Amino acid sequence: MADIRAGILGTGHSYPEGILTNADLEKMVETSDDWITSRTGIKQRRKAAPGEYTSLFAVKAARQAIERAGLEPADIDLILCATVTPDQILPSTGCIIQAELGANKAAAMDLVAACSGFLYGLTVADTMIQTGKSKHALVIGAEILTQYVDYTDRQTCILFGDGAGAAVLGAVENSHGILASRIRSDGRYEEQLFSPGGGTRRPASAETLAAGDHFFKMKGNELFKVAVRSMAEISREVLEEAGLTADDVKLFIPHQANQRITDAVASKLNVDTERVYSNIAMHGNTSSASIPIGLDECVEAGKIQKDDIVLLASFGGGVTWGAVLIRW
Ligand code: COA
Repeated sequence: MADIRAGILGTGHSYPEGILTNADLEKMVETSDDWITSRTGIKQRRKAAPGEYTSLFAVKAARQAIERAGLEPADIDLILCATVTPDQILPSTGCIIQAELGANKAAAMDLVAACSGFLYGLTVADTMIQTGKSKHALVIGAEILTQYVDYTDRQTCILFGDGAGAAVLGAVENSHGILASRIRSDGRYEEQLFSPGGGTRRPASAETLAAGDHFFKMKGNELFKVAVRSMAEISREVLEEAGLTADDVKLFIPHQANQRITDAVASKLNVDTERVYSNIAMHGNTSSASIPIGLDECVEAGKIQKDDIVLLASFGGGVTWGAVLIRW
């Protein structure tokens, strides 16, 4: 298996035009720009308009990634759409994207791992490519989180935004591509971030709607500590597996949950701020979309060059976490 490595051939991203600023939130809940900025680093987040849904942005991001990979939709044989905010329960958003792209040779499915979804997707695609089951895989992280946000809950409504990012993977020269990846979960902590209503355990009804059970509920403080510890640990594991250290990392793109989480993880790993990418001020937390949006922004800005070592790490509801180490 080690003879073939999967690498990222092209990236893309897309998000709604609508912007929700801290000043807008000041009018909705008891909060302030000062509090949000100092506790999270967020200044604004993108918000989909009524009628805009997840696959719209996923398809735009995917088209860009396929084009930049120098491929056609018909070259894609696997589509993994990481999302906790699908267009609908059935069919999968992956299948909706597949049809819209005209990727008529691809298997398509959704992957539910919250903010770690994109790294879960990269890990599955990497394995499929290494085993020869897939030649060109499209991995997408796409969310319209603002549909599930309770705009009376000041702890959660300040955090989340909408958007999508995508990457096309294929076989690359052996010393390049994904050098190591790890994904983990611990479902005992499900209630740290969850949306209890609308599934088979608590089916949608007038009562669940009235109780707001379809909204995200979060124990932010508890998540914060576990997120920092888990992202730092799993990042060290992938570095060790690849025989590298934090000094080798040219760019660290963590899931954008909170600037203080990013700073704490970077400090535990001894990665100085110049090598850490942050776009949380502009996007807030876009769950599975945050890493691929960040990755594509870095590619577009020329921050990643051939041979660079790029470290990706995430933590999210489930709870789930993961890290992927790439030689570009
Ligand atoms: N505006 C003003 N005050 C707020 C507020 C807001 N938007 N949200 C919470 N507060 C208040 C609290 O009520 C509390 O008041 P009290 O001391 O009078 O009880 C105080 O601020 C501190 O609350 P706390 O929850 O301890 O703040 P915090 O520093 O932990 O920041 C989060 C809260 C949510 C920003 C932070 O915990 C976080 O980002 N957690 C991780 C969340 C996350 O990443 N979730 C996604 C999974 S990756």
